[in-house]
Amino acid sequence: MPQPQNIHHVGVLVENLEDAIRKWSLGTGYTFSEIGRYRTEFYSDHSNPRPHHHDARISFSKEGPPHIELMEFHGAGTHSAAQGEGIHHLGFMDHPRVEGVKTDLEAAGMRSDGVATDESGAILLWFTEKSDLHGIRLEFVSPVPQPIVMDDGSPAYRDARGFPSLWPPEPDTV
Ligand SMILES: [Fe+2]
Repeated sequence: MPQPQNIHHVGVLVENLEDAIRKWSLGTGYTFSEIGRYRTEFYSDHSNPRPHHHDARISFSKEGPPHIELMEFHGAGTHSAAQGEGIHHLGFMDHPRVEGVKTDLEAAGMRSDGVATDESGAILLWFTEKSDLHGIRLEFVSPVPQPIVMDDGSPAYRDARGFPSLWPPEPDTV
């Protein structure tokens, strides 16, 4: 079993990211990041179990945790339009035991659908199968740099650890 960990963000799948940022900003007063992309060639899910291109446009709220992660429809699998808009996952970031939790939960009957790895096959993040938890996935994210770029493909900002980030450095940490 996973050690209890606070929810870092609520992932919401949307049809149009710019429109969603406008609506969620209006509804919550939250400030959303510039648009970025989770871009990798090593994503696998029910649409294609072999590693394939995944390029999801995303934006995170400044406020949180829990933050709001808005994600635009993409691809034919876990982020596709066929999944419909709405709450997609609860995200646990910087999880210390991602591969171990995956093994434990799968042994207990909770399946996976959506895994991003690095070139060596090490897991960067994974999602549980939504139908195994009332239509909502859990996302476990490893404490390593994630393949995030800005919307135009340029390099993302860097956080205090040097990891790609959608937020410019705070002025007092520059
Ligand atoms: Fe997420």
